[in-house]
Amino acid sequence: MKMVNATEMLRAARAGGYAVGHFNLNNMESVRAFLLAAQETRSPIILGVSGGTAKYMGGYRTIAGMVQGFMDYLGVTVPVALHVDHGTLQEVTDAMESGFSSVMFDGSALPIGENIDKTRAVVMEAHARGISVEAEVGGIGGEEDGRVNRGEFADPRQCAMLAETGIDCLAAGIGNIHGKYPADWEGLDFALLADIRARIGGLPLVLHGGSGIPVDMIRKSISLGVGKINVNTELQIAFTEATRQYFLAGRDRESRGFTPRAALAPGLEATKKLCIEKMELFGSVGRA
Ligand code: 13P
Repeated sequence: MKMVNATEMLRAARAGGYAVGHFNLNNMESVRAFLLAAQETRSPIILGVSGGTAKYMGGYRTIAGMVQGFMDYLGVTVPVALHVDHGTLQEVTDAMESGFSSVMFDGSALPIGENIDKTRAVVMEAHARGISVEAEVGGIGGEEDGRVNRGEFADPRQCAMLAETGIDCLAAGIGNIHGKYPADWEGLDFALLADIRARIGGLPLVLHGGSGIPVDMIRKSISLGVGKINVNTELQIAFTEATRQYFLAGRDRESRGFTPRAALAPGLEATKKLCIEKMELFGSVGRA
């Protein structure tokens, strides 16, 4: 099956009261792990690619070719969207020309008027090619220059303005943070989430920083209209931890344990297992 945009899978998720997982690619093992997880659980999936990953994995065209090639090779029949995560205008343009089926233009650091104008231009270009668009307003908290901030809070009126650009889903800060949450984190602001929801019609909301958010908060955010949840850090930790255990146990010194394929197999398995757990939590299992 060919990769698809995220529009229909997000519409179905909203209608069905569940969320689609966005899982960030970091290497070849993650491509394989996520596609196997999606196919085995009959789950729709969004594969996210940051600017850093694009550079590491040989650019957008290489990644699009790798993902579609793996889908064909593994016989994937569930809907898969290949999505730019927090893209600049240049990155979004490159990805659209390289076979990506979905993009996020992140204009959240711009003045709202400029964010809206640029998002609208991306929507026109993307929709003409059948590509879905995510936009962001208000910023997502996280680690910057070694300082972790508390999370940011979007202005609901700005959310409504951005929703009118014709985007397919909207990321808005509600106290969520990329990376690890500080011990004194105050949690998601559900009153704000409900306020935003009420102003943007049926548009699916995106919850970034999905790693480490307690299960009950994830469920509640889905019930309040979150249709896409982004997870990266927890999956990276699962991969690295399983790899570390392999070496700590000295398995690289046994038989042919030195081959990179053998050494990275436990990390791939751990990534796949955690991805499936997230799909179960988000309710996307069996929906494709
Ligand atoms: P985490 O790394 O905190 O899971 O966030 C991922 C994300 O939001 C990618 O856009």
